[in-house]
Amino acid sequence: MLSLVLGIESSCDETAAAVIKDGRTVLSSAVASQIAIHKEFGGVVPELASRKHVENIIPVIIEALGKADVELTDIEGIAVTKGPGLIGCLMVGVSTAKAIAFSLGVPLIGIDHLEAHLAAAYLEHDVPFPFIGLVVSGGHTSLYLVKSHIEFELLGKTRDDAAGEAFDKAAKLLGLSYPGGVEIDRIAKEGDRDAIPFPRPFKTSSSFDFSFSGIKTSLVYYLKKNPDPDQNQLKEICASYQEAIVETLVEKTLAAASKNRVKAVVIAGGVACNSRLRELANERFEEEGISLFIPSPKYCTDNAAMIGALGFYRLKEGESSELRLTPYSISRPKYIRGRGLVSDNN
Ligand code: KG4
Ligand code: ZN
Repeated sequence: MLSLVLGIESSCDETAAAVIKDGRTVLSSAVASQIAIHKEFGGVVPELASRKHVENIIPVIIEALGKADVELTDIEGIAVTKGPGLIGCLMVGVSTAKAIAFSLGVPLIGIDHLEAHLAAAYLEHDVPFPFIGLVVSGGHTSLYLVKSHIEFELLGKTRDDAAGEAFDKAAKLLGLSYPGGVEIDRIAKEGDRDAIPFPRPFKTSSSFDFSFSGIKTSLVYYLKKNPDPDQNQLKEICASYQEAIVETLVEKTLAAASKNRVKAVVIAGGVACNSRLRELANERFEEEGISLFIPSPKYCTDNAAMIGALGFYRLKEGESSELRLTPYSISRPKYIRGRGLVSDNN
């Protein structure tokens, strides 16, 4: 019986490894963050990130095994992020995972990063199926109908910027440091969230897609008209801007739950750390009688425990990836000559 899974994550700027028991118990979760390196550039520099993953990946895996007090030979399956993400970064994790799986003779499973963000909820909660899952991160904003531990149906996603990107870009415009979401969250706590009417695109549309580039553009115009905001104005801008994003996320997720007659919702990904999102979601979902599950902040931002958790359930169902597993940077169906449309789920 499969029990111990090693999860590996390297899709962006965190190199992470975790040892997961039975898909649920986190024996260890090690994360080497590169935030300090990318901070001076105001965003992740892909080539620097890949190089750092190469340096960090083996030490992080050794750290995870040590903290879990297990030997590499105790590991029964390897789960690794196969995409979406920065391709050079993903290749580091995928190559390492293949080498370990091959040398140990244990199964390998490639894991979708966005699905794994939702699977982070399995680590701390008994989430009832089906549930609506909202993934809000730096690169993605996607809504899913999740029918079982391993069945994810995409309902909608952002047509342009992700929610986290909208936070990070606004922070840059306001001269705040990277990653901007954390800074805006902090400053917004003291501001009036109704001070400036930033747009809420698609908030009431019947589609489950999102759009966040317009709100950023409206901030650009606002700053042209009102340059050099003082501390009080900065608080108002942050609070109002954050409210527009958060309200849209919460209302669309509620609409998806209602349309699919689902009584449980998971919100995950880095932006799920946002204090106002947590507050408004708790308030609104309670009013509507829907159970809300948000992973702890350490499992909302990128980590390998979520990869190991989803990996466990996929391996348990008999799924596995071949050693030719190829990472992908963006999720999209691929057309292969002679084979027609094939999915990226190799
Ligand atoms: O999931 P994640 O760690 O990495 C990706 O897969 O992208 O998410 C990172 C994103 C960044 O855009 C960051 O600004 C945002 O999560 N973030 C927040 C907060 N903490 C992190 N956004 C708003 N409020 C926060 N407290
Ligand atoms: Zn992520």
